[in-house]
Amino acid sequence: MYLLELGGEDDVFAACEAASAATGVRRIAPGLAVADAVVPERVRGLAYTHRASRLLGRTDADVASARALLEAAALEREGSVAVRATDVHGSAGVSTTDAERTLGSVLVDRGFTVDLDDPDHVLRAVFAEGRLESGGALAADEATGDLVTPLEESDDPDSSGDGDGPADVTAVGDRSRGERVSVCALGWLEAESVRDFGDRAPTDKPFFQPGSMDPLLARAVANVAGAQPGRTVLDPMCGTGGVLVEAGLVGADVVGTDAQGKMVRGARENLRHFLERDDPSPTGVPRGSWHVGRGDATRLPLADDAADAVVFDAPYGRQSKIDTHRLEDLVSGALAQARRVASRAVVIADRSWAAEAGDAGWTLEAAFERRVHRSLTRYVLVLE
Ligand SMILES: C[S@@+](CC[C@H](N)C(=O)[O-])C[C@H]1O[C@@H](n2cnc3c(N)ncnc32)[C@H](O)[C@@H]1O
Repeated sequence: MYLLELGGEDDVFAACEAASAATGVRRIAPGLAVADAVVPERVRGLAYTHRASRLLGRTDADVASARALLEAAALEREGSVAVRATDVHGSAGVSTTDAERTLGSVLVDRGFTVDLDDPDHVLRAVFAEGRLESGGALAADEATGDLVTPLEESDDPDSSGDGDGPADVTAVGDRSRGERVSVCALGWLEAESVRDFGDRAPTDKPFFQPGSMDPLLARAVANVAGAQPGRTVLDPMCGTGGVLVEAGLVGADVVGTDAQGKMVRGARENLRHFLERDDPSPTGVPRGSWHVGRGDATRLPLADDAADAVVFDAPYGRQSKIDTHRLEDLVSGALAQARRVASRAVVIADRSWAAEAGDAGWTLEAAFERRVHRSLTRYVLVLE
């Protein structure tokens, strides 16, 4: 079994993304989940999971319990070690220095040498306390439009946000307060996600327009859509190409259309910059191929089943001038076309669009909601 250290504010959304790199993901404490198996190369490309470790065991969130757990655990490794402890959001009130020292001495007693700079193995000791929210993604028949799960803002201090100013993340809807848990989980570090999102802040890209998507959210929705080598991801309203860049960096072949020539040229510039490189991708997979053309999302110039997944960030009523369509017609038309060309979709918007998705033949697999600021809440719908 594996331990997943989640990032951001919304563990339910993080767990949903983690399921693109792991099987049997379940949350066990704030900021923590376990999984039956992980694909380490895919963990490297996750936005809202920081690390996956091979779980040694779990106990209560205090150093004495962690020590007892480690003394009794089957370690099955040799070589040098370092212990790295984290107290998730400071929730357990544990001294991580004390934890590292105490657990390090257990490992020394058990025959390991300590090498803090270049260890053969890293033991993660993660402490977390708090309520394990039972709220989750809504099933389709619950999808009334009042969808539910608050989606996190960027957790990387160096990422630029999405151009909408400072985030005010609040829970929306009636999410139940779950049971209180106190967990210390110990595990051998297996894979870490590459935290290079700050290098792709929208304002630092060769082509920038207001409304460009933050790379963390773009990566997460690309992963939820199933972006990976051998898959084709289409963004029919690609704008600056924010989602396509992230999907391409985890190896998917990407296709974009946009109604505006300026966006098509800009997206090409960004995709050329980030995907046409000789050096290996930071996530370790070959970058995907890309194609961007001018097109109307409601009349896509693509064959049926041309893509594996569609992701789009619908224009926001307040920011987009749409010459040819009412916003409702645009989104409904795009959802119907998405259904024709792919069997999975992720839609990001300033309202739910769940009813329109149902009308277009989609089943709602999950829905998440994030309040960006007073006048903007972002919805993410996962459609099958
Ligand atoms: C919210 S922006 C997408 C932003 C994008 N995710 C990014 O990171 O830059 C919506 C885009 O939809 C495009 N758009 C509007 N109507 C369209 C249509 N009928 N067909 C295709 N694209 C359209 C706009 O030109 C705009 O670039």
